[in-house]
Amino acid sequence: MNTQLATLENHRRDTIVSNLESQHANIYEKLVKKEATIALVGLGYVGLPIALEFAKSFKVIGFDINKSRVDLMNQGIDPSGELATKDFEDKDIFFTATAETLDKADVIVVAVPTPVGEDKIPNLTPLTKACQAVGVSLGKGNIVIFESTVYPGCTEEICIPILEEVSGLRCNTDFWVGYSPERINPGDKVHTLTKITKIVSGSDAYAEEEIFKIYDHIIEAGIHRAESIKVAEAAKIVENTQRDVNIALMNELSKLFGELDINTQEVLKAAGTKWNFLNFYPGLVGGHCIGVDPYYLIHKAGEIGMNLDVIHASRTINDDMPALVVKQLAKVLATQGKSLKNSKVLVLGTTFKENVTDLRNSKAAEMCQILNMEAKQVDIIDPHADATEFTNYYKLHLTEKIDSNYDAIVYAVNHKEFEHINWEFIQTIRNEKITVYDFKKLLDSPTGNNTNTKYITL
Ligand SMILES: NC(=O)c1ccc[n+]([C@@H]2O[C@H](COP(=O)([O-])OP(=O)(O)OC[C@H]3O[C@@H](n4cnc5c(N)ncnc54)[C@H](O)[C@@H]3O)[C@@H](O)[C@H]2O)c1
Repeated sequence: MNTQLATLENHRRDTIVSNLESQHANIYEKLVKKEATIALVGLGYVGLPIALEFAKSFKVIGFDINKSRVDLMNQGIDPSGELATKDFEDKDIFFTATAETLDKADVIVVAVPTPVGEDKIPNLTPLTKACQAVGVSLGKGNIVIFESTVYPGCTEEICIPILEEVSGLRCNTDFWVGYSPERINPGDKVHTLTKITKIVSGSDAYAEEEIFKIYDHIIEAGIHRAESIKVAEAAKIVENTQRDVNIALMNELSKLFGELDINTQEVLKAAGTKWNFLNFYPGLVGGHCIGVDPYYLIHKAGEIGMNLDVIHASRTINDDMPALVVKQLAKVLATQGKSLKNSKVLVLGTTFKENVTDLRNSKAAEMCQILNMEAKQVDIIDPHADATEFTNYYKLHLTEKIDSNYDAIVYAVNHKEFEHINWEFIQTIRNEKITVYDFKKLLDSPTGNNTNTKYITL
């Protein structure tokens, strides 16, 4: 666009925004003056921190369908275990499991789960149900912002039509919509909500401007305005898909180098000395973001008859990792004259990643299930996992205390509580011959030529 056209375009946009702002009395200003209320729908890892951050200066309603979670939040307890009681203090927030309370909201942020089913097809039920509940309460001048991770097109093709149908109102005439993907990283105390650049987008220029101001109020790291809702939706999926594909590449290489008896970690250390080598490592990809989001893209591509071969293959490689590591462990044990079925194995860590309580879609737990079928005994230690939840999800039991005489140790998840695990400690719990499978190479390589110790990494 040439300079003159760009100036005209900016002028046109400013005029539209200022007309709409005067017409709708600028919802952001109303939030600041507490003449308007913002509601969060879905108070999990994503929704609760946002609700509490907004509640430092805005009037907030926190709505979640799970009453027992709401009861905990009313006592200043984060059911996801990420926030402390002090984070709930001095906040203008009302937690509720009653959907009708959304009648009082002017801005509604939706952060409900977007999982996949057993068939790896997106399960949009929580999202469509949330849209129905929001639609019932939707009023003229309201703005609905979606934060749940979805495929490009989902907000406009699925969510807005539900809101319009249930409310009888029209998008961009009576109410407005935006999409602002979340990048929060549970367990990460550095990249916290306000320190992560936020992407915003709107159904028109007015929505984008208001949504920009609302998030700009709380985000210190800055706001990126995406060109459209679809761009913002795609950006989020691409972030996680890029990680998934790169980790899959490392996992494939690790599989190859395992066969060739080459240490992958040493290869990556050497290759990493090149200025443009990308810093990815092999590992288990679990959780409900990296291991799930690519399926949303695969689904969308399928709708238009496209196959995403690289992304699909990466998913398969990463999903196959639990079985592969068990196979590798059995192979190394065999070199020590042991069979897995006669071995006693200790697994360190079973949540989907380090320093979180979240057990959902954990590949470490899946590996434990396979080990449990193939080994003589499997002791699983995890200071972050809830024992009952673990049993409910995976039909296995956590071990309370590390025992001794282990034939193998699998250091699967690097929780901070495992920092004391070193070779001296391993000496105290090992059988005469031991295999240590250290996924992330957290231990130093054992020194000396100790044939009684086999040490492998991913
Ligand atoms: N957890 C992360 O690290 C992360 C990071 C970025 C984006 N996301 C995305 O954010 C979204 C939310 O993820 P999460 O990890 O916070 O999920 P979560 O499972 O931790 O929490 C979701 C909450 O929503 C509630 N809920 C479900 N259906 C509801 C409904 N219809 N109405 C109201 N509440 C409802 C649940 O009871 C739960 O408390 C997902 O789309 C996810 O992909 C998650």
